[in-house]
Amino acid sequence: MSLRRKLVVGNWKMNGNLAQLAELGPIAEAAREAGGVDVGICPPFTLIAAAGTRAGGLMIGAQDCHAKDKGAHTGCTSVAMIKEAGARAVIVGHSERRTDQHETDPEVRAKAEAALAGGLVTIVCVGEHALDRAAGKHEAVVSSQLDGSLPDGWEEGELVVAYEPVWAIGTGNVATPADVTGMHGAIRAALVARYGDLGGRIRILYGGSVKADNAAELFACPEVDGALVGGASLTAEQFVPIVEAAAPS
Ligand code: PGA
Repeated sequence: MSLRRKLVVGNWKMNGNLAQLAELGPIAEAAREAGGVDVGICPPFTLIAAAGTRAGGLMIGAQDCHAKDKGAHTGCTSVAMIKEAGARAVIVGHSERRTDQHETDPEVRAKAEAALAGGLVTIVCVGEHALDRAAGKHEAVVSSQLDGSLPDGWEEGELVVAYEPVWAIGTGNVATPADVTGMHGAIRAALVARYGDLGGRIRILYGGSVKADNAAELFACPEVDGALVGGASLTAEQFVPIVEAAAPS
C-alpha cells in the first residue's frame, strides 16, 4: 500500500448554489464511513463560508486565489480572504484558468507560493492539450509546466500536483491507465529530482472525466494518489462511489 493517503477533491467550477450544499452531508458521511481517505470540495467563492458550516469533516477549498494579500485588484480574492471564509485548500493553475484568464506558469507559481505561505493545501494543476499528445510532446509540456508553476521551498501548507490532460476534462475521454501511469511516473521522477525525499511524499492527483465506473482502475495505477473531479463531484450520488473507490480496502 502506498504511504501516501489518497485525496479526492471535487471541483464544482461555476456550478452550485446554497441548495446544492445539501449534497455535502451524504458525501461527508460516506467519507467518514470509508475511512483512510481525505475528501474535499471546492465550490465557488460565494459558497465557501456556507459550505464550511456543513462540511462535516470535508476539506473545503477555493478554485483560485490571488498572489497578493490585498490591494487594487478588482474582482480578485486573496488567500487571507478565502481562509477567513473557511477554505483549507485551493486549486491554482487549472487549465480553464490558464485558457480563459490567460494565466501563465509564473502567475500560477506566485499563487501557489502565497497559498502555501497561508498554510493551505495547494493543488497545482498541469496537463497537456490534445495536440501536444498527438505530437508526442506531452511529457515535455508537463515537465515545463512543473518547472514553471511549482514553488521552490515552503514551510507551511501542503503541495499537491494534479495532472489533468486538457483533452480529458469534461469530455468523457478519460486517459487510459497506460497514459496515466506513464505521466504520473514522469511527474514523480521530476518531483523527486527537484525536491528529494519531499518529492516522494507529494500527492499526485489525476483529473479528467473521473467517474464512478473508471475511478477504481485509475486509483490502481502507480503514483496515482487520488483525483480532482469536476462534473461527477456535483452530486453525492456520483461522487460517493469515487470516494469509496479511493478508500484503502
Ligand atoms: P471533469 O473535470 O471531471 O468534469 O472532467 C475535472 C477538472 O477540471 O478538474
